Amino acid sequence: METVVSGIRPTGNLHLGNYFGAVKNFVKMQHENNCFFFIADYHSLTTHPTPENLHDSVKQVLVEYLASGLDPEKAIIYLQSDVPEVVELYLLLNMNAYLGELERCTSFKEKVRKQPENVNAGLLTYPTLMAADVIIHKASKVPVGKDQEQNLEMMRTFARRFNRMYKTDLFPIPKAYNFENELVKIPGLDGSGKMGKSEGEDNAIFLADEPDVIRKKVMRAITDNGPTEMNQIKQEPIENLFTLMNVVSSTDTFEYFNDKYNTCEIRYGEMKKQLAEDIIKFNQPILDKIKELSTDVDFLRKVTTEGAEKARESAIKTLEEARKIIGFKAF
Ligand code: TRP
Repeated sequence: METVVSGIRPTGNLHLGNYFGAVKNFVKMQHENNCFFFIADYHSLTTHPTPENLHDSVKQVLVEYLASGLDPEKAIIYLQSDVPEVVELYLLLNMNAYLGELERCTSFKEKVRKQPENVNAGLLTYPTLMAADVIIHKASKVPVGKDQEQNLEMMRTFARRFNRMYKTDLFPIPKAYNFENELVKIPGLDGSGKMGKSEGEDNAIFLADEPDVIRKKVMRAITDNGPTEMNQIKQEPIENLFTLMNVVSSTDTFEYFNDKYNTCEIRYGEMKKQLAEDIIKFNQPILDKIKELSTDVDFLRKVTTEGAEKARESAIKTLEEARKIIGFKAF
């Protein structure tokens, strides 16, 4: 079994795009690997959340991952800030992380451009904290999306550099976790591109959305004037609705509307109504679970306390080794 580590950004509610992307893969991965999943709450301080917002978003994301099937019996689930050993390793790695290479990171440069009023040292050293997150458990694999590839490269650099500097093989060099199944890209409702909340509230269906909200959003989804020729190629907004339908509806339903489209008899209103009901049906068990877990603070406390214990056990071991290698010794 391989050791896999991944951080979860505590930002906002999960939508169907997240669910069919990272979340589903995490749920699958936990059965086949020794998984550590943590909520990256230290990292989120770079944007200065208020204490209430910080706690609420950590809770929300924890609840939604658990509701989606992340299982504390299978994976070690914890809050990053419950494992202070990570911070010590972060400090140690920072001694060998150079200003130039950190400044050259794309995500750092982007932040400098987008929020010039808040370019703090935490942002600059975001990649060293990420490296500490992963190598503290001697992980060999990290599931990363496209936007995190450079951060993975930095982790590899810092792990290698430590090993080379101290002539040790303490840290395995982590690799990207490759998902065998091609990820399904879930489109948004605004006619183009992926589902994402930055494209506007109505573009995404959130796991925490009530049925009424889902109905309203789907009925407002962008369509076109309808096909005028048999078997006409679908425009992106229509293709997107079919992609969503393909994920949540039965094959019969999909085929029914696809035939209607091909024979120019489709009524988008009817299709959207069906799509909305199928999304609602698909999401209902997750929504119920979200509601149940949100009020079950005892359970959340148990999950995070036990997760932190297991994560610290692993972290303390690695950190003790690192300290010894570096030369910290008692008199
Ligand atoms: N930076 C990641 C993100 O924005 C979250 C993260 C923090 C992470 N530490 C990590 C991911 C370690 C993988 C491994 O999504």
